[in-house]
Amino acid sequence: QHTSLFEQAKEAADYLRNQLDPCFQRPRIAIICGSGLGGLAETVHETPKYEYETSSVPNFPRSTVTNASGGLNPEYAVGDIVLLHDHIFLAGLGGQHPLRGPNVDDFGLRFPSLSDAYDLELRRLVHKAWGRVIHVESKRRLHEGVYAFVSGPSYETRAECRMLRTLGADLVGMSTVPEIIVARHSGMRVLALSLVTNKAVLTPVPRGDDHLLQNSSPEDLNMILQDGKACHEEVLEAGNLAAVDVQRLVVQVIADVFER
Ligand code: 6GU
Repeated sequence: QHTSLFEQAKEAADYLRNQLDPCFQRPRIAIICGSGLGGLAETVHETPKYEYETSSVPNFPRSTVTNASGGLNPEYAVGDIVLLHDHIFLAGLGGQHPLRGPNVDDFGLRFPSLSDAYDLELRRLVHKAWGRVIHVESKRRLHEGVYAFVSGPSYETRAECRMLRTLGADLVGMSTVPEIIVARHSGMRVLALSLVTNKAVLTPVPRGDDHLLQNSSPEDLNMILQDGKACHEEVLEAGNLAAVDVQRLVVQVIADVFER
């Protein structure tokens, strides 16, 4: 049986809405968390809590990847938080775009603009909130940057990292941008935070004829090759360490949005 995308989304939204108190049936803020940020729900007190098994929500997609990113900008350290102010969506430019196919006019325009995708007022709120929630002794910094979306699931090669940096990206990751585009298509205002969980490796791979390395021991060569190599465990670890700061920040921003 054929139902349109809009009807499928509406069915999911109605299912969720019907279980809410009537005063909360028009949410003002929606947050997509990554792994490590599930605890955020426990720290938001503006509204009552409802839990859903996502598998029981009709037409609800299964979540797969998290908003962690590799830092391409040499100023970024592991554990820093980056507010996205723009993105590079190579997959989208190449035709793998979430809005491809016939436009669903009930959601939004055929040709949405993305030149103002990352809401300036919300970003300013985050900078203000940051000053209030971050401890003075903390080394963690807040930046704004350009996020390069790649499809994954492999991490980028060194040459790909250099290419992305040359194109103007400050960080690289496998999530968020498709959701942002769909949200903007529907007219939502968007704020996106990414955690730098590792530094992308930009130095060229050692060459087989590198004379300096000719006499290095296999152990030393292995060290050189493994240095900075991305792994999912490292990504999760940085996420766990940053979770409390990110939660405090998001909770403060939510309070500020409600107070505006
Ligand atoms: Cl280095 N690359 C990508 N594509 N995603 C990441 C990452 C790197 N680090 C965390 N997530």
